[in-house]
Amino acid sequence: MKEKLEQIRTAAEAELNSAGSMEQLEGIRIKYMGKKGELTAVLKGMGKLSKEERPVIGALANEIRQKLETELESRKAALQAELEAEKLKEEVIDVTMPGRKNSEGKLHPLTQVMDEIKRIFIGMGFSIAEGPEVEYDYYNFEALNIPKNHPARDTQDTFYIEDNIVLRTQTSPIQVRVMEKTKPPIRIIAPGKVYRSDTVDATHSPVFHQIEGLVVDKDVTMADLKGTLEMFVKSLYGDSTRVRFRPHHFPFTEPSAEMDISCFNCGGKGCSVCKGEGWIEILGCGMVHPKVLANCGIDPEEYSGFAFGVGLERIAMGKYDINDLRLFFENDLRFLDQF
Ligand code: DAH
Repeated sequence: MKEKLEQIRTAAEAELNSAGSMEQLEGIRIKYMGKKGELTAVLKGMGKLSKEERPVIGALANEIRQKLETELESRKAALQAELEAEKLKEEVIDVTMPGRKNSEGKLHPLTQVMDEIKRIFIGMGFSIAEGPEVEYDYYNFEALNIPKNHPARDTQDTFYIEDNIVLRTQTSPIQVRVMEKTKPPIRIIAPGKVYRSDTVDATHSPVFHQIEGLVVDKDVTMADLKGTLEMFVKSLYGDSTRVRFRPHHFPFTEPSAEMDISCFNCGGKGCSVCKGEGWIEILGCGMVHPKVLANCGIDPEEYSGFAFGVGLERIAMGKYDINDLRLFFENDLRFLDQF
């Protein structure tokens, strides 16, 4: 019996030492220590032994059983550690590998400047109005005091959809649409695309953007116009910006003016950006013509107002020192990525 037990011990230990997987280890456990295992069989057969033999064999069998169990556990732990180490090796991250870059999109420079201008006027209590790009001749010209044969139509030659429908040449028609619908006080800006049949070059495009402004209330004066527009350009170009107004003519304002700002590049000394002038023209403005107010059903005796129109491309070109307007519309990422 003793020999049999020693045989079991030797065989089991050899098998344990060469086992290479959890399944094999489990197989060994069942083979020797399972319900029908070899060692279990010995223990079950103890009853057939003599009184003297029983404790000796019993002690030996238990010792072997304990030893095997301990060894089985330690083999299991070792194997587990080995498997984990292997897994770690397989799943290791190579931090020297080049990463995959997420390229971030951004807003078009014109959109950025448009947003900035909107923000400034919203801060002064203006709201945003819109109008159609395909516009009636009436709103684009007639109601703005530009009748059929007025010379102002020559400089704003546009694309006709029909005899009385055009692609709007300016955002000024939105003034009329707002005044027809809204009672004063009115304080709006109206940004949008405008169209003219101009040939493309460095400073012209058949499509460009304007921002119209309109304020109508009781007792609105030229001083309000000047204060508002000065505030606007100081927010946009910095506090040291100075403004000057030159008399001009627009059919829908009286009096009319063009506003210049001190050159944002040289501060007014004269440079290549302002062509030695020290000043840069940036917008047209004036007091809303009484006829225009009347055309929209607003009594010019009771109300007055001011209006202005800014070219977005020109502002953006100045702000970013861009010398060719075509760059805005070519969608070349080498250009757009710079803003
Ligand atoms: N609509 C004019 C243009 O396109 C710009 C303009 C001038 C708008 C004077 C105004 C204004 O509202 O008062 O040339």
